[in-house]
Amino acid sequence: MEFSIKQGSPEKQRSGCLVVGVFEGGKLSAAAQALDMAAKKALSEIVARGDMTGKAASTLLLHELSGITAERVLLVGLGKASELTNKISVDILRATFGALNATPAKDAMLYLSDEGVGKDTSWVIKQAVLAAAESTYRADSLKSKPAKPATLKSITFATLDKPAATLKHALDQAAAIAHGMALTKDLGNLPGNICTPTYLAAKALALAKVHKSIKTTVLEEKDMQKLGMGSFLSVTRGSEQPAKLITLEYFGAAKTQKPIVLVGKGITFDTGGISLKPGAEMDEMKYDMCGAASVLGTMQAIAEMGLKLNVVGVIPTCENMPSGRATKPGDIVTSMSGQTIEILNTDAEGRLILCDALTYSKKFNPDTVIDIATLTGACVIALGHVASGMFSNEDKLAKELLAAGEQAHDRIWQLPLWEDYQPLLDSNFADMQNIGGRAGGTITAACFLARFTKEYRWAHLDIAGTAWLSGKQKGATGRPVPLLTQYLINRAGK
Ligand code: BES
Ligand code: MN
Ligand code: ZN
Repeated sequence: MEFSIKQGSPEKQRSGCLVVGVFEGGKLSAAAQALDMAAKKALSEIVARGDMTGKAASTLLLHELSGITAERVLLVGLGKASELTNKISVDILRATFGALNATPAKDAMLYLSDEGVGKDTSWVIKQAVLAAAESTYRADSLKSKPAKPATLKSITFATLDKPAATLKHALDQAAAIAHGMALTKDLGNLPGNICTPTYLAAKALALAKVHKSIKTTVLEEKDMQKLGMGSFLSVTRGSEQPAKLITLEYFGAAKTQKPIVLVGKGITFDTGGISLKPGAEMDEMKYDMCGAASVLGTMQAIAEMGLKLNVVGVIPTCENMPSGRATKPGDIVTSMSGQTIEILNTDAEGRLILCDALTYSKKFNPDTVIDIATLTGACVIALGHVASGMFSNEDKLAKELLAAGEQAHDRIWQLPLWEDYQPLLDSNFADMQNIGGRAGGTITAACFLARFTKEYRWAHLDIAGTAWLSGKQKGATGRPVPLLTQYLINRAGK
C-alpha cells in the first residue's frame, strides 16, 4: 500500500473514492460542505432524508455524484465532536477501510485528518495508516491458492489547508510501524513446524542484511552452556530443535549512549513440557513467540525510521516439549545469575528462559530493559484482550510506558510488584520455585523476573491477552509494536 499527502479541495480530485465526514446530527465537515456545493446540495439532501445520520463509524457509499470528478464518495459518520475518544477515532478509521475495501476502488483520498476525527492531524494519519494496513493484511502465505489481494493500493491523505510537508514525517513513521507490525504478525501466524528457533535466527540475520544499522549475533546451546544459562537450557531439553539466543544491536546514536534493551520471549511452541497442557486450543501456543516477534518488528520499524537512539533486541528462543530427556517437575537448575530454581511446573517456562536473557542483558550496560512476553494465562483473566499487563521497578519508566500506550492506542495497565508477593516463590530446596500458585499468577511471574533485574531500570510487559486473537478472527495482532515504537520515538526525542 502506498501512502501520500496532498493539499487541495475535494470536488476537483480524480480518485477512486473520496472520503469525507459527517457529524452526528447531520452537520457536514468542511470537505463534505465543499463537495455538497459542487454537487448541487446532493449531500445535504441525503442527510436530510436520514440515510446518513453521522453516527460514529457508520458509512454510506455514493456513486457518480454530478459536479464531482471522483468516481465515488464515501460518507463516514464522525459522531459527536464533544464525545470523541481515541477508541471512537480508531473505530471510525477501521469502518472507513472496511467500507473502502468493499468497493473496487484502487485508490482513495481521505479528507479525515483535519476534520475532528482524532486529537490531531499527525495522530489521525498514523492511526489511519495502521487501520489501512490492518484491513488489507492477509495471512495466507501457506494456502495453495492465496486469497485475492486487496484492490485498494494507494491512499492519499488530503487536507484543505494544512501544508502537507509537516505531515510527511508522521506518515513515514506510521508506514515503518505498519511494516514492523506486519513482520510481527507474519512470524506469529506461522506454525511451529516452520517458525522454529532456527527460523527466527535466520529472520534476525536477514534483518541485519537489509538494515546496515543492525548487527545480529546468534549464540548456540554450547555458548549458553559456557555462560551458565542452566535455566534457559532446562526448557529446551525435551526438544529436537536447537535453542538460540539472538541479539540484534541497532546503533542510531553515538556508541557512548547507553542502549534500551528489549527482551522478547521466543517459545516457538509451548506444549507445557512434562506438565503437559490440555489439548483444547493448544495450537495457539505457536503464538508463544509473539514477544520475540514484537522485538523483531520493533527493531525493523526503528531501523526503517532511522531513529536516533541505541536499541538492543535480545531473544531467547526454543521449544517447550515433553520427552525422555525433558526437565521434570521438581528438577533444580542454576540460572546464569547463580540463583537456583526449583521447577515445580515445566509449563511456567517463559520466566525460565527470560531470567537468563535478563541476566545476559547486563552486558550491554543498559539504560533501560523492557521484556515482552506471552507469560501468563492469568493475565488474560485479569485484563482480557484490551490491555497488556505492565510491571516496573521504576515509576518514571512506568509512566512513560503508560503515556506511550495511550498515544499509540496500544494500551497497558500497571500491576504491583510489591515485596508482599515474593514469599509465594519461596522453595524448600532451592533459592526459589518457578510458580507461585493460582492467586495473582501474573504478579508472581513478574516477581520471579524481578529477582533477576535488580541492577537496572526495568519493565515487564505481559502480552498474553493482546498478542493474538482467537476464534473467527484468529491471528496475531502485531501488538505491542506500536507501544514499543512510540516509547522509543519519545525517548529519541529527549
Ligand atoms: N505461554 C503460556 C501463557 C499463556 C497461556 C498465554 C495461555 C496465553 C494463553 C505460559 O508459558 C504458561 O503456560 N503459563 C502458565 C503458568 C502456570 C503454570 C504458573 C499458565 O499461565 O497457565
Ligand atoms: Mn507454558
Ligand atoms: Zn509459554
